[in-house]
Amino acid sequence: MHQVFVSAFIPDDVLEPLRVPAAVAMWEGGGPAPRAVLLDQVADCDGLLSMLVDVIDDELLDHAPNLRVISQMAVGLDNVDLEACITRGIRIGHTPDVLTETVADTAFALMAAVVRGLPEGSAMVRENRWGIWDPWANLGGDLHGSTLGLVGMGRIGQAITRRAAGFDMQVLYSSPSEKDQQLARRVPIELLLSKSDLVVLTAPLTPETRHLIGARELERMKDSAYLVNIARGGLIDTEALVDALQRGVIGGAALDVTDPEPLPAGHPLLAMENCLIVPHIGSASVNTRRAMAQLAVDNLVAGLGGGAMPAEFNPLWER
Ligand code: DGY
Repeated sequence: MHQVFVSAFIPDDVLEPLRVPAAVAMWEGGGPAPRAVLLDQVADCDGLLSMLVDVIDDELLDHAPNLRVISQMAVGLDNVDLEACITRGIRIGHTPDVLTETVADTAFALMAAVVRGLPEGSAMVRENRWGIWDPWANLGGDLHGSTLGLVGMGRIGQAITRRAAGFDMQVLYSSPSEKDQQLARRVPIELLLSKSDLVVLTAPLTPETRHLIGARELERMKDSAYLVNIARGGLIDTEALVDALQRGVIGGAALDVTDPEPLPAGHPLLAMENCLIVPHIGSASVNTRRAMAQLAVDNLVAGLGGGAMPAEFNPLWER
């Protein structure tokens, strides 16, 4: 019998197939398991169903001498020391595809919200500052007809591009390689930053992409442009973003992800009116989170059985 630890709650009906080949222990204390619990629980496991906040590093792997398969309920794997796992012969599964369309929806929700001024409008109404209709108040920009710059053209970038066609947007993208893409034009990132009304980050976080957007990149953007991050907080140098927002270097930002995450109370970004922040909800629809859990279970069952995983990590993968 295999031994598995599941580091956050997964509904019973989704977990059921895993209970056939494995004895399953699951953290049910709400959210993901604390580090100490994780280190303790992996000691006897050959399988781990992990979450994106579980740091899977040498320390954890040293605690888990029998570990053979990690199946993460997320597409991003920046919390996993991939090299350490590969060196130790540990297979890694993740959950691409099933969340693509929901994350692309979220990207559009964030873009529309900041361009059309929804957070300011909503605050005005809630705070009783809603006066009589004024033809020249609350004016924002337009999403339709604008230029969208996508940093990364993986699955999610492509799903955003399909939606952008419906908004008559011109789409530019930057990517390490040319993609088969009729609806978007590949350009150097410098050009993308200077031409786009909205810059949307969809690239994976790797050592190469950490702080991809810093002071220099922000300076290249139009002073009316918005920076939207639906990938990982670490793609942006947070201090540089705070400075750029304070000085009006860019029009604003919409962040589904931050660095650090969550932002501590009193963080300067939290007080900025030109920065919309939501708590990493890119894939958080009922159907998508169930599909992610299902795929994570399927990956783990297949991996433990020594078969092909439906979605095994491919080092050439790009979100
Ligand atoms: C992922 O799967 O990497 C996403 O960030 C979850 O929303």
